[in-house]
Amino acid sequence: MTNKPSTLLLIMIAFSIFLNCKNTTVKENAISPLPSLKESFKNDFLIGAAISRSQINQTDSLSNALLEKEFNSITPENDMKWEQIHPKEDSFNFETADKYVALGEKNNMHIVGHTLLWHSQLAPWVQNIQDSATMASTIKAHINKIVGRYKGRINTWDVVNEALNEDGSPRESVFYKVMGGENYIEQAFMLAAKADPDAKLVYNDYNLWKPEKRKGVLRIVKNLQDKGIKIDGVGMQAHWSLEGPTLEDIENSIIAYSNAGVKVSFTELDVTVLPNPWDLDGAAVEQSYAQFENDPKMNPYPVKLTDAAQIQLAKRYEAIFKLFLKHKDKIERVTFWGVNDGHSWLNGWPINGRTNHPLLFDRNFEPKKAYNSVLDLKKQ
Ligand code: G3I
Repeated sequence: MTNKPSTLLLIMIAFSIFLNCKNTTVKENAISPLPSLKESFKNDFLIGAAISRSQINQTDSLSNALLEKEFNSITPENDMKWEQIHPKEDSFNFETADKYVALGEKNNMHIVGHTLLWHSQLAPWVQNIQDSATMASTIKAHINKIVGRYKGRINTWDVVNEALNEDGSPRESVFYKVMGGENYIEQAFMLAAKADPDAKLVYNDYNLWKPEKRKGVLRIVKNLQDKGIKIDGVGMQAHWSLEGPTLEDIENSIIAYSNAGVKVSFTELDVTVLPNPWDLDGAAVEQSYAQFENDPKMNPYPVKLTDAAQIQLAKRYEAIFKLFLKHKDKIERVTFWGVNDGHSWLNGWPINGRTNHPLLFDRNFEPKKAYNSVLDLKKQ
């Protein structure tokens, strides 16, 4: 007898090593990070990002790579607003918007149009209109032309943006004043529905967690429904902070809007980590904040976030997404207002020249602790 292992034994050992390796791979996959936001939440809601002109023009390759990996919906941060797309009565500027829609189609994304009627970033010639007939025909021409051009290609329209005051009363915008009431909202939704019957139509606004403002939204939704005018969703912009709003207020709004028969989207999510000038003694809302520019107290993380602040942001995002998942049946889309921290409008508002860190990716496109805390929710 020799001590050499038989061929059969060698085969069995090799097979068992193979099986072992296979099990390890399976186990490792189970604990390795999930692949992306859009994959992780694909059965829950869409994950979007607002994109700027450089991303639309694809001049920032890292940014576009991250966009394609992580997000399945896009919103144009500025390039479809009235002053951009319809700067003069008889002149439309579709160059960037066309590229925007093509980018979304190339990547199979849910494409949002932002926004048809908004008092801000409105072309000056519209602000000068003074009679209701001219305003009505202007709104009609604007919506027909733009919604018609992208018929079947833009999936969701923010039809009317920010038409309410904080107490839920109608904002006295130029549309409201010249048209003599909220009938311009009815017109806008009716026209958009006619121009593209398949597009989803949304009313979009900030601070929609506020109980008073919630009543205003419900009034608008009910009025449209009573008149048989299509409205599909409410967009809660979600420019939030580490401290507020409370989850309870957000939840009450999600439930109220859903009970009114429309879907909810979080359309402009970001969480500021910087001190708020409104909380400072003597700082009135109407005050100019130029006095705080270059004040180090107002810009505590000029280079990077401290670990403690990273953790605070991660906890806030975790709580927010836990709530979103609880109500995923009512929520259609969660869109971040920017791809990475460097892109955020919050670096310039309400105080110019600060360094904010409100999103899930830092300025080097690296995922932050907040990103992991959001993805971890899908591993539990
Ligand atoms: O296009 C001009 C450029 O020609 C000029 O050189 C430059 C100098 O300041 O300004 C450029 O315009 C800026 C524009 O963004 C495009 O970058 C405006 O000054 C600036 O005010 C404008 O800010 C945008 C803001 O809306 C205007 O209200 C932000 O980027 C955009 O993030 C923000 O988005 C809004 C949503 O549409 C609606 N909800 C609130 C949200 C945050 O304010």
